[in-house]
Amino acid sequence: MKQTANLTGLLQRLLEHSRPLYSQGKVADYIPALAQVAPQQAAVAVATLDGKIFSAGAAQQNFSLQSISKIFGLVMAMNRLSDELWQRVHMEPSGQPFNSIVQLEWEQGIPRNPVINAGAILVADVLVSHYSASKTAFLTFLRRLTGVETIYADQQVYLSELEHGNRNAALAYLMKSFGNIEAEVPQVLEHYFHQCATAISCEQLARSLLFLANRGVQPLSNEIICSRRDAHRVNAILSTSGMYDQSGEFAFKVGLPAKSGVGGAIVAIVPQFGVIAAWSPPLNPYGNSVVAMQVISQLAEELGLSLF
Ligand code: DON
Repeated sequence: MKQTANLTGLLQRLLEHSRPLYSQGKVADYIPALAQVAPQQAAVAVATLDGKIFSAGAAQQNFSLQSISKIFGLVMAMNRLSDELWQRVHMEPSGQPFNSIVQLEWEQGIPRNPVINAGAILVADVLVSHYSASKTAFLTFLRRLTGVETIYADQQVYLSELEHGNRNAALAYLMKSFGNIEAEVPQVLEHYFHQCATAISCEQLARSLLFLANRGVQPLSNEIICSRRDAHRVNAILSTSGMYDQSGEFAFKVGLPAKSGVGGAIVAIVPQFGVIAAWSPPLNPYGNSVVAMQVISQLAEELGLSLF
């Protein structure tokens, strides 16, 4: 068992130490609603399998889940489809920016993995095609995982993404042209933008993903969220692709399955221990939060959390 005595003190120290890095990043502005978020904010939370939560900074403040929503969508899709899912989306790192189009054309409309935008849009297609109300089903899943009935999608962010989603629309129509999208593209995009617009806090996010640190079982309720095999598979994909084309560097420095979002959050899974969620809006050129990267790297080092 890893040491959690005075973890709150350690989190406060790491957060204060990392705050000067705000100025090294830039808040995402390609979605206008995200550009309005105040940059100098930060939080970190650690949820452990025995039900404890440790945090520092604005850990109860909501932010935009963005690409971290791809984890929840993927788990829902894996629960609906068997191995046929992996014929429509692969599990290899892309080595490209998260919204890149070029590789998708070369590879006949089959996304490299489910956590780049093309892959997540493909997963959104699975959800739209298998749920009568996929947007509600997504929120219900998150409410079940967090135990928080008020989790919601921020309408302003949702509409802002819909209005400025031309690149994602291009990815979706390209996949449709290869026959890899079943539903109508506008409906698939609406689902995808809606799940990205989910508002959540660091404490809620850390708790929600405990099942990935616990072989698919949510430890707080003992509920089976996914199979042990699928928990392994999601963690494998997060380890190789979750931090986009900075995934290699993150594995090299930190050594944990992780996922970032342009809302400024990063979540890292520590198998058999718990989940770390950190948030701060300014991003580096890869789209990963500068402060959250630093806090998670240092925490992993101080507690010896690397899987490698
Ligand atoms: O598709 C988009 O552009 C956003 N809704 C999500 C992107 C995102 O968070 C990428 N993450 N680093």
